[in-house]
Amino acid sequence: MMISFNFFFTCLDGCTSAYDNGPYTVQNVPLTVPIAQSLRFLWIAVPTVEGDVEEKFPVVQFQHGFLIMNTCYSQIISHIASYGFIVVAPQMDPIISVDATKEISDAIDVPFWLQANLESTLSLEVPETKPDLSKLALVGHSRGGKVVFGMGKNGTIPNVSTIVGLDPVDGDANGNQTPPGILTFSENSLNLGVPTLIVGSGLGPFGFPPCAPENVSHEQFFFDLSEPVFQFVAKDYGHNDFLDDVVCELTRLPCPGTLGSRMPMQLFSGGVVAAFLQAIVGNNTCFFNDVFINYESAPVSLEVPQQKGELPQNHNLQVPLKDE
Ligand SMILES: *[C@@H]1O[C@H](CO)[C@@H](O)[C@H](O)[C@H]1NC(C)=O
Ligand SMILES: *[C@@H]1O[C@H](CO)[C@@H](O)[C@H](O)[C@H]1NC(C)=O
Ligand SMILES: *[C@@H]1O[C@H](CO)[C@@H](O)[C@H](O)[C@H]1NC(C)=O
Ligand SMILES: *[C@@H]1O[C@H](CO)[C@@H](O)[C@H](O)[C@H]1NC(C)=O
Repeated sequence: MMISFNFFFTCLDGCTSAYDNGPYTVQNVPLTVPIAQSLRFLWIAVPTVEGDVEEKFPVVQFQHGFLIMNTCYSQIISHIASYGFIVVAPQMDPIISVDATKEISDAIDVPFWLQANLESTLSLEVPETKPDLSKLALVGHSRGGKVVFGMGKNGTIPNVSTIVGLDPVDGDANGNQTPPGILTFSENSLNLGVPTLIVGSGLGPFGFPPCAPENVSHEQFFFDLSEPVFQFVAKDYGHNDFLDDVVCELTRLPCPGTLGSRMPMQLFSGGVVAAFLQAIVGNNTCFFNDVFINYESAPVSLEVPQQKGELPQNHNLQVPLKDE
């Protein structure tokens, strides 16, 4: 268990629950822009600022799952943005190949576009909200989880401060990864140089075929990742329960999951990611220590959260760049 001095220090005056919406009102900015020769639809959620005072916010790139629309993550994305993050979710090309190499390479183009264009693009829509691109977080669900870890392994994207996998999936069975393989099935082998978070679904490994097969999903990612890494698993929810209800109901069909509203899982996953980003990017560990220690108060029933290593004191860790 993580009971650090930091917890008592930062929580002396209390912090609100990360499962409630954060302090910022969120505005959605859907845009279609040319990125590296393709027209790409971006679902962007931005925290808005009252009055004429400009404020800078770190940026999160959010990668959707297999054949899922980026708009189906609007609840979780908005929850993260309300804690003071600009969240950009690109719609990737419809996938015809199980090979994720092209998707990873397309996803790598996005941060370079963000560095060059995000500020000017947002200035037309939300002039007071400015991106702080000195810190970039990568978050991905399902195949998008594989994509963000692939982006980290690639090592050409500047300023990546953390990587988060929401029920990441690296293939369709043990020993049957889809290329490029991210997992090596060796403990602590995946060292990306930054703290990471894995959020798993307890029902992901069930179903025929399972949406998140055992041995290529959250448990294995947690096993392979080197410290510091944290893991939460929502016992009674499924692989696609991160997604919005109503408009995205069809995403329930392929994967076993809750029969009720998926809202508790959206609140939980949005909250735990926002709390982690606050700790890693925002230098505020209060929310994360609270969700970790008081895991029994989460909106969904959780397994005991796991950790390898501690939250780092150094808030300027970044994925080291490799030579091309
Ligand atoms: C990183 O990605 C770029 C763009 O897709 C690619 O050209 C390069 O070979 C990759 N480098 C590594 C080390 O994987
Ligand atoms: C990215 O990080 C490097 C080194 O930490 C820094 O020099 C650079 O200014 C950062 N880029 C941006 C856009 O802030
Ligand atoms: C997962 O891996 C373990 C150990 O290699 C093996 O015993 C188990 O059968 C695998 N499970 C599946 C579903 O492949
Ligand atoms: C992080 O917060 C602590 C105390 O809240 C402060 O002393 C420290 O300077 C902050 N670090 C950064 C990098 O902002």
